[in-house]
Amino acid sequence: MRIAVPSLPILLSAALLLAGCDWAPSKSEPELAPPSPPISARGNPSRDIDGLRRHVPIDVEVSPLPMARVENFDVRRGRAYPMQPPTIPHSIDGYQVDLNSNRCMLCHARANAPQFQAPEVSVTHYMDRDDQFLATISARRYFCLQCHVTQTDAQPLVANEFVDIDTLLQRERRE
Ligand code: HEC
Ligand code: HEC
Repeated sequence: MRIAVPSLPILLSAALLLAGCDWAPSKSEPELAPPSPPISARGNPSRDIDGLRRHVPIDVEVSPLPMARVENFDVRRGRAYPMQPPTIPHSIDGYQVDLNSNRCMLCHARANAPQFQAPEVSVTHYMDRDDQFLATISARRYFCLQCHVTQTDAQPLVANEFVDIDTLLQRERRE
């Protein structure tokens, strides 16, 4: 009987493997600049114009901020600029919006809002582009998250001194 003898290269690589020897040709690692030291999320909003890069030089990798958590406190926030779509004061995990159903409208449609104690979408959401009022939500307003975003605990990246009209009127009345 003839015993099959493994060929020399196989024997050799097996021996090297057993010896724990790294025989693969060493790849030269591309040199990366070390990540920047952590910089506060706020940076210096009064001076910075590059809120997103937080003054990290362009050839240095930015150490990313921790991911923001969605807040679910039902506390409405003031607007940050005129005509801002209000931010969503509740979490929206698993709320489906697609061709067949719109979970947001379950609570925010005019007919259902009182039952869920939710603010109903304003009339603008029922208007088509010719300003005609429709019976159901306008196609232009169907995908709510196009305009409305959830609230997170992220720090503002740029300074903002916007004062909304209600506050302005209040100030005027006081004077
Ligand atoms: C289970 C019912 C329910 C569903 C579903 C729901 N909401 Fe709400 N929403 C509320 C209630 C109630 C409030 C009032 C504030 C609060 O109690 O959280 C509210 C508040 C809001 C506000 C704040 C309005 C304002 O004037 O400040 C926005 C914007 C909003 N929701 C958008 C959405 C969007 C977008 C979706 C779908 C992704 C959605 N909601 C799904 C119940 C709901
Ligand atoms: C094209 C942008 C856009 C889309 C899409 C949109 N909204 Fe709005 N939404 C706004 C703006 C802007 C306002 C504030 C001014 C106004 O009422 O028109 C607003 C206001 C609201 C308010 C507060 C109404 C009030 O009287 O305080 C609610 C609640 C709301 N939207 C829910 C929704 C829901 C639910 C959807 C999806 C079915 C949706 N929006 C889709 C832009 C949008």
